[in-house]
Amino acid sequence: MTARHFLTLLDLESHELKSLLVRAVELKRMHHERVLYEPLKGRVMGMIFEKSSTRTRVSFEAGMAQFGGHAIFLSPRDTQLGRGEPIEDSARVISRMCDVVMIRTFEHAIVERFAAWSRVPVINALTDAHHPCQLLADLQTYFELRGELAGKTFAWIGDGNNMCNSYIHAAHRFDFQLKIACPYGFEPDPALLTRFQAHVELVKTAEEAARDADLIATDVWTSMGQENETSVRKRRFSAYQISPRLMDLARPDALFMHCLPAHRGEEISDDMLDDPRAVVWDEAENRLHAQKALLELLLVS
Ligand code: CP
Ligand code: NVA
Repeated sequence: MTARHFLTLLDLESHELKSLLVRAVELKRMHHERVLYEPLKGRVMGMIFEKSSTRTRVSFEAGMAQFGGHAIFLSPRDTQLGRGEPIEDSARVISRMCDVVMIRTFEHAIVERFAAWSRVPVINALTDAHHPCQLLADLQTYFELRGELAGKTFAWIGDGNNMCNSYIHAAHRFDFQLKIACPYGFEPDPALLTRFQAHVELVKTAEEAARDADLIATDVWTSMGQENETSVRKRRFSAYQISPRLMDLARPDALFMHCLPAHRGEEISDDMLDDPRAVVWDEAENRLHAQKALLELLLVS
């Protein structure tokens, strides 16, 4: 029960996260140069997906293969997890066979319960409350393209969701300021706003958050599991769309990120991803490299 887990960004210290970003850039270079590096030969990752995924599945599966290991995709449709086998029992069994487990699920408590009974590291691959792996990729992307994160001002515009909560953790760990603009009633976890108030400011409008920002980030208006709220959310979020015009309020070298999948005409304008300030394809690619750096940290060092 002594395995090291990655359930939120707070599970790693600031210095570990900073080294992880440096290592991710190095692993990216090695990958592009086709350097063979297989530190996880013979090791196996269990991948539990209770929600859909493209990037997370492909990046973890490809990353394990590139590291010489193997990944097993487990969906509740085909496992006893989907038929009510308790999380605690599943954790004890799967962690006796796999060397690391990643989980994408609904309540954050599920990954915590799994981790409490797991012999091996557990990685949060998205819960309703946090998406820390995506933050590793976002931070790597900013670091690669613009350098130091400390002292910068980032803007989160849209839903105060799992991504927003993880951005709050990132602001604390990397010492940047985060301006958050959400429609009334869709703010992030109030406990996080209070705890990390030194790094976070809630503002009223998208324009206020965007002004002089070094980075603008957003996400879907309707997250997985909230599909029955879609039409209400489209109305309530309409003033929070990111467009090149909104980006013009930010600093001249500002970047735009979105964890994807994106909905053109909703949280972004039709032309936002064609704008040179949008770096979403680098951001998506960096899921691979940042998570390989995470696996190395949890399993090799
Ligand atoms: N950004 C992200 O986690 O994408 P997927 O849902 O495709 O994994
Ligand atoms: N907030 C989104 C992120 C998808 C990667 C969701 O939870 O569906």
